[in-house]
Amino acid sequence: METTKLKIGLFGFGVVGQGFYQLAKLRAADTIDIIQVAVKNPAKARSISISEFTFNYKELLNNPSLQLVVEAIDDELAAYDIVKSALSRGISVVSANKKLLANHLREFIEISNASGAKLLYEAAAAAAIPIIGLLDGYFNEEPIKRIEGIVNGTTNYILTKMQKERIKFIDALKEAQSLGFAESNPSSDVDGFDASYKITLLTAQAFGSIIEPNEVLRYGIRFISEDDIFEAIQNNRVIKLIATAIHSEDGLIVTVLPTLLNKSYNLASMSAEFNAINLEAEDSGKHFFVGKGAGALPTGASILKDVLQISNKKYLYGKLSILPLEINPVSYQLELIISHPSDIKIEDFRITEQQLLLNGKIKSKGWINLKVLKQYLPIFEAQEIGILSTGNFKKSEKNQIYYGFLSH
Ligand code: HSE
Repeated sequence: METTKLKIGLFGFGVVGQGFYQLAKLRAADTIDIIQVAVKNPAKARSISISEFTFNYKELLNNPSLQLVVEAIDDELAAYDIVKSALSRGISVVSANKKLLANHLREFIEISNASGAKLLYEAAAAAAIPIIGLLDGYFNEEPIKRIEGIVNGTTNYILTKMQKERIKFIDALKEAQSLGFAESNPSSDVDGFDASYKITLLTAQAFGSIIEPNEVLRYGIRFISEDDIFEAIQNNRVIKLIATAIHSEDGLIVTVLPTLLNKSYNLASMSAEFNAINLEAEDSGKHFFVGKGAGALPTGASILKDVLQISNKKYLYGKLSILPLEINPVSYQLELIISHPSDIKIEDFRITEQQLLLNGKIKSKGWINLKVLKQYLPIFEAQEIGILSTGNFKKSEKNQIYYGFLSH
């Protein structure tokens, strides 16, 4: 019956909003009713009737029949207003907006707790892989030791195309954009910001630590050269943008870095827009999850599942810790490969191997302290220097690798 349908306001009709809309009509037309779709641009051609839209999101937000907000918009300020206003008024929200959520998670949890409204966001990290719900629910009581994976579909698509088909970075990016994988500003994908938002959300669920996205040690794939790709292939290796969060004995190591993987490693064979996550839990050991990480239907399907479960699902946040953990503790070093001009001197970089490249640059491999590296990353970015992590971390004062299963 019409009166029993859940009344949904859909904010945003981009790739993700349209994916959700399509699946909602296809799979749940008898249980949910999208009362209106709020978008910004009245001039844009749309695939559904103009009568379904409002160009003033506040009109939809203030609609008295609104029962649930689905937020999938780009404009962070408007998204913040929509999510905060809805939650404050006791209206539950399903959001796919990783940037918004990563930047405001603590505040949104507090507002939800006060109002009783729910906030679900399975689509915000690794799209089709139900990793948020698994961490929050299934792994609620079990300590997590490590989570690592490919959480950005666009960069994985680009790297796959560069490695397998030898096409140029810019052409691979254009393909990823045309397939609807990339953010509207693809710097978010290419420079690792999107992955840093996702690992921030996963870190909150896996370890109970709500961190700021800018605390993540982040570097993108923009400066991975065709030579880097070629050399990796020659050495039976693959380059992937890997997000990692490790519960070390001194705090959390949280990174998003282009990483060299052995070809036989499970993440190495993940191609195109697929995402994959390795999870190591204290009692149950290692787990491996794979699924599509971007695209209209995989993301829309994830949103639809949250929408359909909103009446009986709520995140528990069972691990939210009272004592904050140090992020990227000073006691740890990362093994890094840097291709740099010969006049660049990197302090505290303990070089173990060096090689003069044909282009006159030097390729140095060595160990660098996490805090030192954090200070150097903006300098490397400004100078367009390519870096590669080997995935090996060790504690500074002991010459012993603590966390390095990526290299196996
Ligand atoms: N631009 C994102 C990606 C979309 O490529 O992973 C899914 O979050």
